[in-house]
Amino acid sequence: MTSPSTRLALHGGPKTIAQPFVRYNPLGPEEVAAAKAVIESGVLSQFLGRWGADFYGGPKVREFERACAEYFGVKRAITVNSWTSGLVAAVGALGIEPGDEVIVSPWTMCASATAILHWNAIPVFADIEPDTFCLDPKSVEANITPHTRAIMAVDICGHSANLDALRAIADRHGLRIISDSAQAPGAMYKGRYAGTLADIGGYSLNYHKHIHTGEGGILVTNDEDLAERLCLIRNHAEAVVADKGVTDLTNMIGHNFRLG
Ligand SMILES: Cc1ncc(COP(=O)(O)O)c(C=O)c1O
Repeated sequence: MTSPSTRLALHGGPKTIAQPFVRYNPLGPEEVAAAKAVIESGVLSQFLGRWGADFYGGPKVREFERACAEYFGVKRAITVNSWTSGLVAAVGALGIEPGDEVIVSPWTMCASATAILHWNAIPVFADIEPDTFCLDPKSVEANITPHTRAIMAVDICGHSANLDALRAIADRHGLRIISDSAQAPGAMYKGRYAGTLADIGGYSLNYHKHIHTGEGGILVTNDEDLAERLCLIRNHAEAVVADKGVTDLTNMIGHNFRLG
């Protein structure tokens, strides 16, 4: 008979860790002081859903975006109220239309695929690599059809997808790349931050992530035109296009994706 000490806790043995973990509080005096200053200013959000200076949000939002752009080494960082919103904005900004196909990893959180469905496009699941659990470039290429418009790479569990191989495929077939790097802020791929090698990438700022704002997300891109389209989808594009002089109206139905 097995002695109690060699039995797994699952099977009635003693627990290896008997004490509950002390909850880690990621918010300290610096965050409390910053939040207090904002509350005392009386302004919790300075976005306006019309064309003008406040279309891009207030000074705190812009300061945070500048800091993120500097950290990730990209031209533009754009905040959103969740990374789910960020993914919807990213697919929209690329001009993905009904019936278009976007190849995506099946080993991910549901929002990677539902962001594609949001625009009535079709998520096509390619296989993943056994060592990284990220998209397998060979499987991606095998799933390309005349309807394929983009690849959504998911940098799962802090591991970057093979962006060089995916970029080579994208270039061969005229496709765009989105990186869902929700779980990989700070992960590196060949000396650059995961998420920054795609046409549009980004990270979740949800409470359970490494860096958080409670709920939120941050989009990153080096393409100024895409950055503007992301800002439009974030903030009621349809109410702004005329005054902003937007001529490409594809997917210019906006939302309130603003981070307060
Ligand atoms: C891979 C992946 N994509 C998208 C999301 C959605 O992010 P959010 O919870 O900020 O909407 C998550 C969140 O867990 C995620 O892990």
